[in-house]
Amino acid sequence: MEDSVYTEQMIASIRKVEATRPKRLEEAKRGYRFDKLSLKDSQELLEKFHPDYITEQKRTLRVGPSKGEILNIEVVNIFEGHSRIFKQYDEFLRRIKSPDYVTDVLIIGGGGAATSAALMAYKNGAKVILATKLRTGDANTMMAQGGIQAAVTPVDSPAIHYLDVIGGGHFKNEPELVEALVNDAPFAIAWLEKLGVMFDRNPDNTMMVLHGGGTSRMRMHSCLDYSGAGIMRVLRDEVKNHPEEIDLLEFSPAVELILNDRGECIGAIVFNMETEEYHVIHAKATVMATGGFGRLHIQDFPTTNHHGATGDGLTMGYRAGIPIRYLGAVQYHPTGAAFPEQIVGLLITEKVRGSGADVVNVDGEKFVFPLEPRDVEAAAIIREATPCENGGKGKGMATSTMYGVWLDSPLIDLLDGEGTIAKKLPAMVRMVNRFGIDMTKDPILVYPTLHYQNGGLVISANGSTILPGLFAGGEISGGVHGTNRLMGNSLLDVVVYGRRSGTSAAIYAKEKFIDWGKPTIQHVFEYEQEIAQFEDIPEDRITPVLLPDYTPEHVKKKQLTTSYSGNLW
Ligand code: FUM
Repeated sequence: MEDSVYTEQMIASIRKVEATRPKRLEEAKRGYRFDKLSLKDSQELLEKFHPDYITEQKRTLRVGPSKGEILNIEVVNIFEGHSRIFKQYDEFLRRIKSPDYVTDVLIIGGGGAATSAALMAYKNGAKVILATKLRTGDANTMMAQGGIQAAVTPVDSPAIHYLDVIGGGHFKNEPELVEALVNDAPFAIAWLEKLGVMFDRNPDNTMMVLHGGGTSRMRMHSCLDYSGAGIMRVLRDEVKNHPEEIDLLEFSPAVELILNDRGECIGAIVFNMETEEYHVIHAKATVMATGGFGRLHIQDFPTTNHHGATGDGLTMGYRAGIPIRYLGAVQYHPTGAAFPEQIVGLLITEKVRGSGADVVNVDGEKFVFPLEPRDVEAAAIIREATPCENGGKGKGMATSTMYGVWLDSPLIDLLDGEGTIAKKLPAMVRMVNRFGIDMTKDPILVYPTLHYQNGGLVISANGSTILPGLFAGGEISGGVHGTNRLMGNSLLDVVVYGRRSGTSAAIYAKEKFIDWGKPTIQHVFEYEQEIAQFEDIPEDRITPVLLPDYTPEHVKKKQLTTSYSGNLW
């Protein structure tokens, strides 16, 4: 390993990993990877090592329909923030009466759920506007790697898929949401294929499927390890193929919903980030599909998430009265890159473990079944890597900033033949290669990274919310995954609930919409009044966040002293 990017200490540890590899290979060939944890041991592990159980990092939400919930501080802060439009409340009250755009269905968001919703709304006869913060398709869906679950093989069924989802979610899932997810799954795959998604197939043309963590059957469909990109590019192109029926407003995030005097949602106020103007959209039905909060760096974790994942839809929906479910449950993906520093937190897809890589400690020893459900796998890695003086096992490999464990990727080629990694995991190979790591020869150092929002706004199986005229789908919603989502059920969720919410919105616009009534933003006023009770909520905490602010504190202070005061995001 001359000229290696790894330190001497790391190289010494890699030698130990290599020394245990032949025995582990032998075991894997016999079908043994490690003992699975019992439910009792998993629970104990989670309580001691999973970040969801660290109470000092959480506090009680004091406002809105779910006040009293205990959430991570970063999440409470988006709910306990001021509206962007409040300071010009009277002006907006006037402006919402004269819309800049009028449509049947407004879709807020630009990822997999939003585009699926737009396509189904237009298919069901609606005129659609899709308003998105960045470009259409610039979202977490595009970055998804491993795959999408659907029960299609003769040994599988939606009922078995259902049991896996419920078990992974700690039996907290909403049954009717899971039922819709698993029953729609085979159809979702067929729909995507018909639109042009190229899923991996076996030489006999059957679908290529793999295991993910917590799955009792192989049902993970993939497009190599670019699965999200494979799906998103097709959905995006299909939306763009219908310019007459689907209008795109890019760089135009919604900042507040508009209601009417009957308490129905009739559209949104959007902010054009290029011209810095606000626009009013009246819509007979609205779909909120803005994704999750994974860019909020919960508990200071690095993240796999897109820069746009700042919980904007959550904030607007909550302010308008939609309660939340299981938002305290956050997903830390077990294998984020831990070295080198430039890629810390980026995703090393679960497909690497699904394809045969072991997770081993600094001495090359296995310590966890590599395909435990995500929360259990992450907690086991945290326990192994945490130094003994902090209550862990002290078996992590140190970098200059953190500890990690090894993901022994070379095992994949040894199991399935040379060239398998290059063929099945080209995105991974390319990502680590840029930093001088050859994952076909050396293991990759990993540690859990912030990945997903397990809970969200309360919805029903057709994507409706308690607010008439408002629908929601995808990561923004809560209940389908209980408190822990399994791999591949996110891409499935965005397609299934994107389609359902788009269809329901179009039907609502056609059959249930009465008239516009009197447009109002009274809910914003009332929410601000609730917030005003608390003196510790800073005036400059404005939400929705729109984009994360990485400006260092000393630069921010300097900016305040300059003449520029238009810090709009
Ligand atoms: O590991 C992964 O590829 C992630 C998949 C997912 O979150 O569904």
